[in-house]
Parts: sequence; structure tokens; C-alpha cells
Amino acid sequence: MKTFVAKRVVLIMGGGIAAYKCLDLIRRLREREVQVRVVMTAAAHHFVTPLSVGALTNERVFTNLFDLDDEREIGHVRLARDCDLIVVAPATADLLARMAGGHANDLATSVLLATDKPILVVPAMNPHMWMNKATQRNVAQLKADGVHILGPAIGEMAERGEAGVGRLVEVPEILMAVERLIGGDQTANAAAPRPPHDVSMASQRQDVLTGRHVLITAGPTHEPIDPVRYIANRSSGKQGYAIAVAAARLGARVTLVSGPVSLPDPAGVDVVRVVTAAEMLEAAQAALPADIAVFAAAVADWRVAKPKSEKIKKGRGEAGVPKLALTENPDILKTIAHLKSRRPALVIGFAAETQTLVAHARRKLKRKGADWIVANDVSPGTGIMGGDRNTVHLLSAAGIESWPDMSKDKVAERLMARAAADLSHYLTARTAAE
Ligand code: CTP
Repeated sequence: MKTFVAKRVVLIMGGGIAAYKCLDLIRRLREREVQVRVVMTAAAHHFVTPLSVGALTNERVFTNLFDLDDEREIGHVRLARDCDLIVVAPATADLLARMAGGHANDLATSVLLATDKPILVVPAMNPHMWMNKATQRNVAQLKADGVHILGPAIGEMAERGEAGVGRLVEVPEILMAVERLIGGDQTANAAAPRPPHDVSMASQRQDVLTGRHVLITAGPTHEPIDPVRYIANRSSGKQGYAIAVAAARLGARVTLVSGPVSLPDPAGVDVVRVVTAAEMLEAAQAALPADIAVFAAAVADWRVAKPKSEKIKKGRGEAGVPKLALTENPDILKTIAHLKSRRPALVIGFAAETQTLVAHARRKLKRKGADWIVANDVSPGTGIMGGDRNTVHLLSAAGIESWPDMSKDKVAERLMARAAADLSHYLTARTAAE
């Protein structure tokens, strides 16, 4: 376990049912040798007691701006500054609204207003409250102000029969975000001064997919004819791998389901290696739920209906040429895009074409049930298949965007940045559809 020795976190607890999860968060932070000071809003007292919080932090629990003892011992300005990070969890709709409005009508909001440290907000509320335009406006404002927002996650609510976007993200994911913002084991240089805002500026770009799961398929599939021969295609897997790297850089948990390629596992990505289309479908389904799914694999459309278990021996002349009966492979993109439950909120497919690119891609968008199709011309003359560059068109219900020729890495970065920026729209639409 990584420790964050000598790091100090102020945890501002809002009044939500998910507050109990913060007790575990405190324990995990303490295990990592982080000093945790907790500020509880008045509403938080309805869900957990200062006594249990204090027992875990081994520190005084701060509750009231006008408590003279608190102010004498450590004023709210010092509380706001003597730390490396402020975490707000659970961040209720009310707390988000007060933060976005710059209020300072209790200790929690006063600390948030007085701080010059990075702020990580972990919202949790009813899905309707989260989707409400006022809340979305407040979240957009906070993001514009440089506040880091983690989640909320999709799932069941504490209220019976309620499900959707609104759950507090799980503690391990909060810990990962904290780690990203305050750094890992820095015992050696914990006391060394850091340039102001170094962490927050770097992570402003990097944490937009924190708490999100991105599923990616990449590479070709090999469909066996017999134990030594197979049907394949020229896909190198480069574009899919580049997308996995780009998603991980934005803070996402990434599962890359890869067909046989000669590329190394990208760092920080869960790679599941498969061979056939059937295995790729199974691995992709097993990786769900995911918030975003990108189907970049060049899946073989057909497989040999009955592959031989022994090597086929060469017969004599024309009569000896084996006749291969083919059967259709499952369409992985189409299957996952049409799931009733557990469909990723944003489903992105690719269309590799050699003629009438846009018309074919448009039909694919509809037929496969994808939200976006990234269309590219893979005619041999383009050098795209197996090469390092790509020229793509992004199609969605809203229209078509043609991107200039660029490296596959740049296509990946731009695609994931775009997906991150538009994700909340698709999450909201998905919740409404379910
Ligand atoms: N795809 C898939 N499973 C398949 C075939 C394709 O998931 N069995 C996905 C690809 O990963 C890609 C998209 O569907 O995102 C389009 O793939 P493409 O090969 O361009 O289209 P096909 O469905 O094979 O159609 P066609 O052969 O007519 O071009």
C-alpha cells in the first residue's frame, strides 16, 4: 500500500446517506498516514456523529463557524490553508449550490472560500437532483473554477426503487483521485516546497475521467481453420491501444480487450488478451458496466463453421483444395449497444471503409446503435491500416465533423477529450432512457 506520509487532508462532510462511506474513507486515509481533519455540515450530523468521526481521525471534529473554542484553537482560515487537499464528500446538491455561489454561511463553505488548495468534490444525491439543470449549472461553474469533480457513479440509490447517476463513487476510487492530487509516497521530499498550483494545474487536464470506466476493443481477431491456420486481417491494434492510453491519462479505469497484436500492454491499463471474436465478445461483456465503450477492433466478420482439430493435409490437385464453410461472427458493438441494461452511456464504433465512406458510416451508426462512429478510409493507398497516421470523420446524430490528418495518438487524445466533455450529456440521456 502506498503511503502519503506527512500529507494533510481536510474532509468536508455534507449531509447525505452516503456520509457513512466517509468513515471508511477516513480509515483508509489514516492507514496511509494522512492527517485528516473533518468539517461536518449541520446536515451531516443527521447521518454520522462527530464522536465516531473524531474516534477515527484522532482529531477534533469541526462543526460550527461561531464556536469560539474552535476559532481560538485553529481558525477557519488556517483550517483552509494548513492542508494539501480539501475533499468534499458526500457533496450534496445544496453544498454544490452554496459552493458555486461563493457562500460562506457556515464553517464548511467558509473553509472552501478561504482555501488556496486543490478541491476534490465527490457528489452524491438522488439522480433527479443530479440531473436538475440548477445542479448541472453549479457543477459546470465549479469545474470552470478549477474544482475537481469525481463522479457521481451510476447504480442503485438508498431510496427503494431509485437508480441512476447519483451514487457516491466507491472509496478506492476516491483514494486514487486523492493520490493523483497529493502524490504518492513522498517521504523524502515531503517538506520540500512545491510551486503553487502545480498539482491542480496538471490534474485539471488529467482527472476529467476519474471514477469512470472505459472499455475498448482493439486489434484483429484470428478465427481458426485448424490448429495451425487462421483467418485474420491487417489490423495492427495501434489506434485502439492509443485510445486506451489517452483514456488512462484522463484518469479513467481502462479495460482493453485486445486481439492478437504485437504491441506491449499500455501502463495502467487492464489488458484482456483474446484470440477469436467469440472470446472478444465474452471479455467485453464481462468487463461491463462501463461508462464509455470504444469498439476499435477489426473483428473478423466470419469464422470457419467447423474448425478441424487436426492440421488439414494437402490433397492432390484441384480436388484436394479444402472447401471452408463460413458462419457469421457475433457483432460485438451491435450486441453491447443494444443492451437493455448495462449499456455504456456513450458507445463509439469505428467504420473502416474503402469506398463511399460517409454513406456507409452513416448506415453503420444507425444499424449498430452506436452514439458515434469514427469513420476512416482504409484503402491500401492511404497507409492507415498498420500505419501511424489516421484521417477520420466523426459522425453522430448531430452531424459529421471531418478531422485533419494526424497521428493515431492525436486522434485518440482528441476522441477521448471529446468523450469526456460530452459524457455527462450521454449519462443523463441514458438515465432518462432506463
Ligand atoms: N464490429 C464488432 N463486431 C463485429 C464486427 C464489427 O464489434 N463482428 C465493430 C468494429 O469494432 C467497428 C464497427 O463494428 O467499431 C464497424 O466495423 P466494420 O468492420 O467497419 O464494419 P462491419 O460491421 O464489419 O461491416 P462491413 O463489413 O459491411 O463494413
